Amino acid sequence: MHLRGRLVLLSFVYMFSWSLSAYTPYNKNPDYPHPKEQCACVIGQSGPPGVPGVPGLHGERGLDGRKGEKGDKGDKGDTGWKGHPGSQGPEGPPGKRGRKGVPGDHGIPGLIGSKGMKGERGYPGMMGEKGGKGEAAGPMHKVAFSVARSQRLGPVLQDTPVSFDVVFTNLNEAFDSYSSHFVCKMNGTYVFMTHILGQNNKDVYAWIMLNDKHKVPLHGDGRAGYGTGSQTIILRLKAEDHVWVQLSKDSGLLNDYTTFSGYLLYED
Ligand SMILES: *[C@@H]1O[C@H](CO)[C@@H](O)[C@H](O)[C@H]1NC(C)=O
Repeated sequence: MHLRGRLVLLSFVYMFSWSLSAYTPYNKNPDYPHPKEQCACVIGQSGPPGVPGVPGLHGERGLDGRKGEKGDKGDKGDTGWKGHPGSQGPEGPPGKRGRKGVPGDHGIPGLIGSKGMKGERGYPGMMGEKGGKGEAAGPMHKVAFSVARSQRLGPVLQDTPVSFDVVFTNLNEAFDSYSSHFVCKMNGTYVFMTHILGQNNKDVYAWIMLNDKHKVPLHGDGRAGYGTGSQTIILRLKAEDHVWVQLSKDSGLLNDYTTFSGYLLYED
């Protein structure tokens, strides 16, 4: 459009200049005198049209055209360089709970706590295993006797061995029923006990005898009505020793209450 407009303008100028030259033959060329200088001449017919002039000089630059339409959006550029690290932002909300960690090392033992309250009584334990054979308990040989007299005796005119007619116990026949003596059959330590009951209002005396030796006396006081006496003795005996109860001269015994007992405590 711009170029075409220029050409139209040029052709218009050319035509105007041609028409001027046709009615006023005038030229800057000195060979053609000015009409005022030739006013005395007869005006002839018009000459033929002149040769078209050379194109004019290049005109000055026109005004800038109007701003074109906005172009299409370009392609997306390449990724830019990595920027500098920004300043630290505010603390975010707590994250999700992590997975369970590995167990830690064994800690140092704590301080000893205060003593607890007494617990309840536990159940009985199970029966233990059978123990080994123990040592022999007491004497290997069993010696024990216990006798009593059912009949009254005396008062006697001389020292008299008390005979016993009731036998409660007589292991190994240590008590000789015929003599009413205990007869030792093995060396060891023995225990003897005896009890006597006197007759009414009469004193009573007796002894525990060992081989014709008086060992310990018994006495029942007649002022008590029926006097009683008791005695215990422990003797270390050897085989064939005799132990018995001897009622003293002028003493008497009531029935049933007099007893004599003994047993082996330790063997030698
Ligand atoms: C009993 O004791 C007597 C006197 O100590 C002794 O001589 C005797 O050998 C003993 N008897 C036994 C079987 O140990």
